[in-house]
Amino acid sequence: MTIDIGAGKLLAQEPTCPRDAHGRPRVFVAGSGAYLTDPDGRRWIDFDNARGSVTLGHGDEEVAEAIARAARGAAGVGTAWSPVLDSLLGQLQEVCGGDVIGLFRTGTAALRSVACAVRDARDKPIILSSGYHGYDPMWHCDEAFSPNEHGIVEFLFDLDVLAEWLASPDQVAAVVISPDHMHLGERWYTEFTRLTREADVPVIADEVKVGLRYRGGLSTDLLDPAVWIVAKCLANGSPVAAVGGDAHLLAGLEEVSFTSYFEPTALAAATTTLRRMATGEPQRAGRAGGDRFIAHARAAFAGASVPIDLAGNGNLFQFVCADDEVQDAFHAASAAEGLLFFEGDNQTPSQAFTAEVAEDACGRIGRVAEALAGRFTDRELTEDSWYAGAWGAMDGLADRPRTREQTNEIVARLWED
Ligand SMILES: Cc1ncc(COP(=O)(O)O)c(C=O)c1O
Repeated sequence: MTIDIGAGKLLAQEPTCPRDAHGRPRVFVAGSGAYLTDPDGRRWIDFDNARGSVTLGHGDEEVAEAIARAARGAAGVGTAWSPVLDSLLGQLQEVCGGDVIGLFRTGTAALRSVACAVRDARDKPIILSSGYHGYDPMWHCDEAFSPNEHGIVEFLFDLDVLAEWLASPDQVAAVVISPDHMHLGERWYTEFTRLTREADVPVIADEVKVGLRYRGGLSTDLLDPAVWIVAKCLANGSPVAAVGGDAHLLAGLEEVSFTSYFEPTALAAATTTLRRMATGEPQRAGRAGGDRFIAHARAAFAGASVPIDLAGNGNLFQFVCADDEVQDAFHAASAAEGLLFFEGDNQTPSQAFTAEVAEDACGRIGRVAEALAGRFTDRELTEDSWYAGAWGAMDGLADRPRTREQTNEIVARLWED
C-alpha cells in the first residue's frame, strides 16, 4: 500500500518527519511503546519519537487515561482556569525553578516570546544565539557572526566569537543557547559561564530538547540560566512548552494569551507526564536500553569496518558517519531493518525502550552493519565528519581544538549546506 501524500501538494507546509529516500513522508498507522506499525503491518522500532517528544512511549496507558478523562470534561474546562493548571505550574517550578512560569503550545512560540520579553526588559538590541530555536524567521541569519535584521547574532557555539562580542556587552540583551551534550563538554560550559558572568549578560537556556531529557530537571549544572524553556519532555508528545525564570526579564510575558490556554487534555498530558519525568525513572530506563544499543552498534560497525561511530549516551545520541554517501547507505539499510531514525539528527529512546526492545534493536543494527560490511573500507571518520555530524544535530560547531582561522574555514564549508 502506498499513500502519496506529497504528490498533490495540498499541504502548504513541509513538516519535519521521517521520509523515504525520495523525500516522501513515511506513513504509520499505529504506535505502541517503542514500536510503530506501517500500513503493510511491518513493525519498526522508533528512535525518533516525534523528534524526541514521546518520552514515555507511544500510547502510554496512564497518559492516555488522563487525556481521556480530560477530554470528557472531568479535569477542568477550556473555558476557564482549572486546578490542573495550578498543579502544572507548581510542578514546573519545583523541577526547573524560576520566579515566574509561562506556558505555550510550541517551543518556537516560547522562544520568540522570551527573546522579545528579555530584549524589552534589558532595552538592548542584540541577542547572541546558538542552536535551533524554532522555525520563526527572527532566528534566520544569512551569515554567521554578524547581526541579522532582528538583532540576532549566530555565534555557532564558538567561544572565541562569543568572547569578541562580549568584550563590549553594552548592546547585548542576552545570550541564548540550546545546550548540547554530545559535542560540547564540561570545558565548554565552564568557559561559557565564565564569559557571560564576567560580561554580566543573562543566559537563556533553550532546553526545549534537553530539559528533563537526562534527569528530572534542567540538563546542565554548569549553566546558571536567568531564563529556561522546556518542552519536548513535558507531555509525551502533547503540545505544551514552558518558560521560567527571572520575573523582571519575563515581565513582557504578561501580554501572552491564546485561545487554547486552558485546553484540558494538553494540561492533563503535561501534569501526568511531568509527575513521572520528575522522578528521573523514565530517563534511567531509556538510558539503560540506549547505552546497551550504543555499545552494540559501535562494536558491530567496528567489527564490519563500517566508518560510523556514535556520539552521546543512551538518553540522546547520534550516528556520526564518515561522509554523506555512508550516511545515505546507512539510512537505507536501517529502513530495510525497520529501524526508524531521525536522519542526520539525534536519536531519543523513550522509557519504552526496554531491555527486550534493546535486544531486538541490537539484532537489527547488527544486520545493518553486515549489509554495509566491505562497502566503505577506504574511508574513515575525520575531523570533517565530526563537525558535519555536530552541525546536523546542534546547528553549530562541535567543541574541538581549532584556530580562529580554521573556524572561519569550517563555517564557510558547512554554512552552504
Ligand atoms: C532546542 C530547540 N528549541 C526550539 C525548538 C522549537 O520547538 P517546536 O518545534 O516545538 O516549535 C526545537 C525543536 O526542535 C528545539 O530543538
